[in-house]
Amino acid sequence: MTTLRQSHFGESLQFINQHRSRHTSSCTVLVTGATAGIGKAVAEYLLASSAQHLLVLTGRNEDVLHEFRSRYPDRVITEAGDMSDLQFVRSIAQSIQLEGRLDGLVLNHGTMGSCFRIGQMEVEDWEETFRVNVTSCVALIQSALPLLRASQGRIVFTSSGAATNGYSAWGAYGASKAAINHLTLTLKNEEPEVTTVSIRPGVVDTAMQGDIREKFLKNMDEKDQVKFSTAKKDGKLLPPNKPGEVIAELAINADEGLSGMFLSWDDPKLAQYRSG
Ligand SMILES: NC(=O)c1ccc[n+]([C@@H]2O[C@H](COP(=O)([O-])OP(=O)(O)OC[C@H]3O[C@@H](n4cnc5c(N)ncnc54)[C@H](OP(=O)(O)O)[C@@H]3O)[C@@H](O)[C@H]2O)c1
Repeated sequence: MTTLRQSHFGESLQFINQHRSRHTSSCTVLVTGATAGIGKAVAEYLLASSAQHLLVLTGRNEDVLHEFRSRYPDRVITEAGDMSDLQFVRSIAQSIQLEGRLDGLVLNHGTMGSCFRIGQMEVEDWEETFRVNVTSCVALIQSALPLLRASQGRIVFTSSGAATNGYSAWGAYGASKAAINHLTLTLKNEEPEVTTVSIRPGVVDTAMQGDIREKFLKNMDEKDQVKFSTAKKDGKLLPPNKPGEVIAELAINADEGLSGMFLSWDDPKLAQYRSG
């Protein structure tokens, strides 16, 4: 498959402004980790909306990105790359013609890292987990901030319950999600024109939970092994579209009063962003 890097929506440079005048509720949203799980559900939700949103989608899986482009050739731009490559991350917002406006930035990509206990872990693994989960977010936010300020836009992070829970063997992952929550607090104060929210999506039926069951149980505490190995067969995993809907709605509609908060996807404060 040949992957051409497309720098604008639609067939011509004029498309974006014409689209925005024709579809006045159309938002422009960038979603990271859009190739699977929760991020893919966020992208599908926004693309299905009658508002005709424009989406920039990132991830490493070029087949999934290609499929999005084939289904929505005018409304989707994809940027394939690894979020540990900060040069790639910085280039994402800069290489696309957005005509001065980005309404939503969904920072959803994430890795559990190698899931070793602190005593056994290589510090390089810790650093890599932080580069993917935290530093890349800072780099992307820096390059997107002028556009987000201009549109009084929103940043939504996919955080985790692990941010406030010290699961054994999840140290790097949990600390990186706690850092995301802190970044949310800082951005609320530093960037009052932008609304920034961090969401705990619950325990969701995605490849990440598959990895926990199949690769990471051995270093975890026994009680956590039981919880995570049985969650799927006991029907306790959420479908990705449940938290995905809330994250997508927040990306286009989050009230500024939510800025700085870390909230569970099913928090009563978020009732208006859920359909059921
Ligand atoms: N599933 C859960 O129970 C759960 C619970 C709490 C929080 N979360 C959080 O939810 C978010 C989404 O995870 P998920 O559960 O939907 O898992 P998933 O299905 O494994 O999706 C992870 C997404 O992140 C992308 N990604 C991961 N590492 C990347 C890298 N180095 N460079 C670029 N993209 C990368 C993946 O894209 P490619 O594979 O194409 O690179 C994929 O699109 C993560 O931040 C995760 O920490 C999940």
